[in-house]
Parts: sequence; C-alpha cells; structure tokens
Amino acid sequence: NMATLNASKLTITKTTTPREKVPKEQLVFGKTFTDHILEVEWTAEKGWAAPTITPYHNLSFDPSTIVFHYGFEAFEGMKAYRDSKNQIRIFRPDRNMARMNTSAERIALPTFDSAEFIKLINEFVKLDESFVPEGEGYSLYLRPTIIGTSASLGVSTPDKALLYLIASPVGPYYSTGFKAVSLEATDYAVRAWPGGVGNKKLGANYAPCVKPQLEAAARGYQQNLWLFGEEGYITEVGTMNVFFVFKNADGKKELVTAPLDGTILEGVTRDSVLTLARDRLPADEWTVNERKFTVQEVKDRAAKGELVEAFGSGTAALVSPIKNIGWKGEDIAVPLAAGEAGELTVQMSEWIKKIQYGEEEYKGWSML
Ligand code: COI
Repeated sequence: NMATLNASKLTITKTTTPREKVPKEQLVFGKTFTDHILEVEWTAEKGWAAPTITPYHNLSFDPSTIVFHYGFEAFEGMKAYRDSKNQIRIFRPDRNMARMNTSAERIALPTFDSAEFIKLINEFVKLDESFVPEGEGYSLYLRPTIIGTSASLGVSTPDKALLYLIASPVGPYYSTGFKAVSLEATDYAVRAWPGGVGNKKLGANYAPCVKPQLEAAARGYQQNLWLFGEEGYITEVGTMNVFFVFKNADGKKELVTAPLDGTILEGVTRDSVLTLARDRLPADEWTVNERKFTVQEVKDRAAKGELVEAFGSGTAALVSPIKNIGWKGEDIAVPLAAGEAGELTVQMSEWIKKIQYGEEEYKGWSML
C-alpha cells in the first residue's frame, strides 16, 4: 500500500531564529538561503511520507549512502518573482517538475505527483515570502533536489530517497546591464552523447563542466562552447542552451538552436524563447529552427557577414549574449548590434521578464 505524494499532509515548524536578510545589492548566486527547508522522505516500503517544512538545517547521512558514491541525484532550477502588486509568481514550475520526474526515473529514483509538489513549493514560498527580493532582475532561486539515501555500497535501486527544496535569493546576473561573454569551443571533451543522459538534469552532468570552463578561462575566455562529433555540431554553452541568428540568402533571419535529440537539456528558457519567437517574430522576416548546425557553419557565415547574433539561455542568467568564439586558434567575432547584446537577445529578455514579473499574462506561464 504505497502512499503517493500528498501536499495536504504537510506539517510546518517555523524557525525561531530568522536570518538577517542580505541587502539585495550584495546577493551572490546560491550563497545565502531562506529560513526553511521542505523535505519529503520516500521508502520502497511505504512510498511518500508526510511532507515537512522545518528550519533550514544540515542533512546527516551514513558515509555509505548511495548519493555520495554513484551519483543518485537530480535537481531543478526555477525562480519565484515579486510582481508590482507584491504578489509572488513562479515561472513555469510545471515544466520543471515534469523534467524532474523524467530525471528521477532515469536514475531509478522515485517519481512523484508534480501538481502536489508544486502545491508544497507554493506553501514554502509563502512561508519564506520575505526572502523574495523586489525589483527587475531579482528573484528567489528555487532548488528542488532528489537524492537516493539508501545506506549501501551496492549499485542498485535506492530503497530510500529524499526529495527536498531549498531557496536562494538572487540578483540580476549582470548587475550593470548585459555583459557579452567570450567562448572557447571545447574540442577535447563532450558534454553528452546519443543514448546518454544529457537531456536529464542530473548532478552528474554538471561536475564535468567545470574543468573545460577553467581551461577556457586560463586561455582568456569566459565560458566554453560544447561541440559534438567530428562535424563539430554546436550543442550548448557552459550550463546553458545556445541560440544563433543568421541572415539567410532570401533576406530572412533564422533563429537556430540544437534539436532535442537526447543530448540537449530541455531548457524551460529554451522552450520559452522558441515559443515566443514562433508566436511574435514576423513570419515574413524570420524562420525559427531546431536543427543541427556546426561551428564551421558559424565561422563561414560570420566571414560572409551572415552571423547576426548569439546568446545562451537558462534560468540563472535568462539570456547571456555572446561576443566571440575561439575555435582552432582563431576567434570568430559575433556582432553585438545593441551594444553588449544582439537585438533579439534584448527583445527576448524583455519579453520573458514582462511575463515573469506579471506585467503581462502569457499562456499561464507565470503562476500565482
Ligand atoms: C541555468 O542556466 O539556470 C543553469 O542550469 C545553471 C544552474 C545549474 C546554476
């Protein structure tokens, strides 16, 4: 008789020692947290236990616990925003929860009812509401996490798991407007491969991203551009999806990103950019394509003056303009028509922020 995740069983124990708020100008991404933690335990025997919200605390596990050894961990990143009426909105949590379930399922962790977990997230955000900073670019970054907690070195299905949520108040990624980044195309490592888990948000996909970034930094670039295969297909940038704009022979502009072939993280921001582009960019001037494209194509088209702009997309930074790509010892300059960003990069940022901060209702993306 396995219990499903049930938000109505939530118990709340409030902190008696509320934290001092960090002044919002001093916020550093993911360094400070709210007063509470949401936890739901799962066992193979009983299913999902009653959820709890308690004062933020350390987790304590036996050193043999399976998450420490074999990477039984999946997570999400999403944000809560304060709108002009002082209401708190969460951007597209249904997408994040659907993805989290596919991630958990892939590593033999239990799945859960997304709608019930969203109710719990809403309760958590209501309780720690005072940590949601006010103002454009400010938000509360939510980090749902699921880990296998069986105390055993056996590589097998975890018979215990913990689903939890912590939250970190964050400021604008670029404190003084956009700052375009330079990339180094990585030719000695790949992020993901066909049949692999690159489309899942597993912690195991992120640790190997740091060294290529450090190596790029050592050569004077800020981030790395992930390629795949002999052809050098462009897949992602750092921990973000990536978009390019080309000017085609027919005079139309083309917005391009890599297709969801299993090697690409199915970004919520990626989907938001594609949806808005298809909905709002005039069809006689634009085409929007999810297709394979190579760094050679980018180089050739830059040489012909057909490269218009490029940007990364993700929850943390929203959009991140690209100014340069180092590849095989040469630099490909990316135009920045609107100063430190391309025109579409700026437009997308404005469109998405309007929805996130509730200045505009769009497809129910910004949930109250
Ligand atoms: C994002 O762009 O939101 C990310 O995936 C980065 C996150 C892992 C900090």
